[in-house]
Amino acid sequence: MAIHQVGPVEELAVGERKHLNLDGTKVLLFHLDSGFHAVQASCPHMMLPLKSGKLLDDGKTLQCPIHRAQFDIATGDVNKWANFPPGIQMLNVIRKEKCLQTYTVTEADGELSIEI
Ligand code: FES
Repeated sequence: MAIHQVGPVEELAVGERKHLNLDGTKVLLFHLDSGFHAVQASCPHMMLPLKSGKLLDDGKTLQCPIHRAQFDIATGDVNKWANFPPGIQMLNVIRKEKCLQTYTVTEADGELSIEI
């Protein structure tokens, strides 16, 4: 386990995200109304990039840009599994639901750190 300093709090406004590579671990850091949250940067459905995923209107759900799986950013829980395009359910027989890995984010003296 390692702790990585990732910058000042004010660098990331609410609703924004930052893509990080922390010693080879790719992470998305989000600033939501509920605070700062870090999750793996690849979708557990097919390990494709999530960095351009859509933050849904509820302000806490990330939708994968590929097959539209939806994840709770704070917990990593699956809200909806891959559902696009029609027929993707056939692939889901072998690509079962899997939560996003989350990482602990700490704020101290105005600086953020992530524990990997
Ligand atoms: S790669 Fe994300 S839902 Fe398929």
